[in-house]
Amino acid sequence: MNISSAVFVQSNSDYKLCPPADRPEYVFIGRSNVGKSSLINLLTSKPGLAKTSQIPGKTRLINHFLINQEWYIVDLPGYGWAKVSKTEREKWDATLRQYLKKRENIMCVFVLLDSRLEPQAVDLEFMQWLSENSVPFAMVFTKIDKHSNTKNESNLAHYEAVMLEQWEELPLYFITSAVLKEGKEALLNYIEELNSLFIVTPPSLSAKKNPGNLS
Ligand code: GTP
Ligand code: MG
Repeated sequence: MNISSAVFVQSNSDYKLCPPADRPEYVFIGRSNVGKSSLINLLTSKPGLAKTSQIPGKTRLINHFLINQEWYIVDLPGYGWAKVSKTEREKWDATLRQYLKKRENIMCVFVLLDSRLEPQAVDLEFMQWLSENSVPFAMVFTKIDKHSNTKNESNLAHYEAVMLEQWEELPLYFITSAVLKEGKEALLNYIEELNSLFIVTPPSLSAKKNPGNLS
């Protein structure tokens, strides 16, 4: 898929204030600093579109970007950010989960995972929650330029083994690096495939759009 336009639409902190759910939406989420904004910039070929920083937790809102005037990318704050108060964290967590459950046009939540790290409880729990709430998702391993191919392969095999303790089969996954521009084509192809499955549902009939149960 060729990205001809990518524009920032709006930021807000409530799913009810998001733009109309009339086109497919793809959510990028993961722990702080995992590389969400960098990956969005890679996919759209717009280095400054989503702000990147070395200060974890910089993106603190639901941020919508309109791509090719046809679909949305959403950049979300990193979860598991220790430097905010417990109350603030819980408030954001509730907002986030409500958005993920209620937003009808989400076609896929891309859960970003740092390829260098051991499987983190917070990520495993979050994917479990997505599955329990029928929110479609895929795993995206980031920063693979930081290690050799051999190390990446053994880390991935380990991740797979840990996942298979909980899951019957491994969810779909992608391997990426914003530095090497790796994974861009595979992700865009997947998005294109899901875009073709999107059906606009009148608000009165709205039901969660899950690629698994579209007919
Ligand atoms: P928050 O919004 O703060 O949660 O962070 P984020 O997940 O959006 O991460 P961001 O894209 O801002 O990247 C965090 C840091 O990791 C930045 O210094 C990036 O330059 C770096 N980074 C992101 N992706 C990659 C990658 O693929 N390879 C390498 N080597 N560094 C990366
Ligand atoms: Mg960010």
